[in-house]
Amino acid sequence: MKVLEAKIVRSFIQMCDDGWHQGWHERNGGNASYRMKEEEVAEVKEEFSYERPWTPIGTSVPTLAGEYFLVTGSGKFFQNIIRDPEDSICIAEIDDKGENYRIVWGLVNGGKPTSEFPSHLMNHEVKKRVTNGAHRVIYHGHPVNVIALTFILPLEDKAFTRELWENMTECPIVFQEGVGVVPWMVPGGRAIAVETSKLMEQYNVAIWAHHGMFCSSDTFDNCFGLFHTVEKSAEISIKIRSCVPKKRQTITSDNFREIENDPLGKSFNVHLPEKFLD
Ligand code: 13P
Ligand code: ZN
Repeated sequence: MKVLEAKIVRSFIQMCDDGWHQGWHERNGGNASYRMKEEEVAEVKEEFSYERPWTPIGTSVPTLAGEYFLVTGSGKFFQNIIRDPEDSICIAEIDDKGENYRIVWGLVNGGKPTSEFPSHLMNHEVKKRVTNGAHRVIYHGHPVNVIALTFILPLEDKAFTRELWENMTECPIVFQEGVGVVPWMVPGGRAIAVETSKLMEQYNVAIWAHHGMFCSSDTFDNCFGLFHTVEKSAEISIKIRSCVPKKRQTITSDNFREIENDPLGKSFNVHLPEKFLD
C-alpha cells in the first residue's frame, strides 16, 4: 500500500490540519509524532527507501530502537501538510542503539524531522514504558491562552492544574493526573527534552512557559482532544481574568472530591492526586 493511502497516515495529516484550523500553528509552530505499530509499518514498507544517511538524534532513546515514527518536518507549516504531505512530513526509523534516525519516506524536497524530535522521542520513551505501550501520539503546539497563562500564574504544577481544573467541570476527568510546567528553556535540544520527559512520568500534559504545550495519548482523537480541552480551559481563565480581578466563586477541593466519589467519577475511573487538593 502507498504511505498516503494508509488510514493511520491520513488520520495523522487530518489531526495536523485540525490543529492548524484551531490556530495553534502559526508559521512552522508546533510539531507532531506517531509511534507506528509493526503492522502499520509492514503495510507501507514497500514505499520505503534506505538511501538517506543515519543522523544523530541528539539524545539516546534505547527503548525505541528499531521503531518507526511518523513525524512533521522542521520548518514545515502545518497549513501545508494536507496540501503537500510528502514535502511536509516523513517516516523516520530509529537505529538499533536508539541514537540515530534515518528518513525512509517523505520530506521529498529535503529537510529533517522537527527540531523538537529529541523531546518527542524522550516523551515517547517514557510513555511507552508507563502506559505499557498504549501511548503512541505526541503533539506540540503554540496555543494562545495556555501561553498567556504562563505570564500570569506561578510556573508550578499545582497552580496550573487547579486553575485549569476549576474552569470547566469536565477538566478533572479529562486530565485527572493534572498538568506539569517546564520553566522557560531554550527549545529544540536535549535539556528541555529531559525536563519534559520527567513530567511525562506522571502527566499527559506538559506546558512550556512562554512557548506552548506538549500532550501525549493513545490515539489521535484523544491527544487532540486533550490539547483542545486544556486550551479551552485556559481561554476561560483569560476571559475571567479580563473581566474581574477575582473570581466570585469556583469549584472547590471538596467539589472535586465529590466528582471522584460520584458514580460518574467512578465510571470514568477518576482519581485526583491529593497534592492538588486543599
Ligand atoms: P519545528 O519547525 O522544528 O518543528 O519547530 C517548531 C516549534 O514549535 C519549535 O518548538
Ligand atoms: Zn514550539
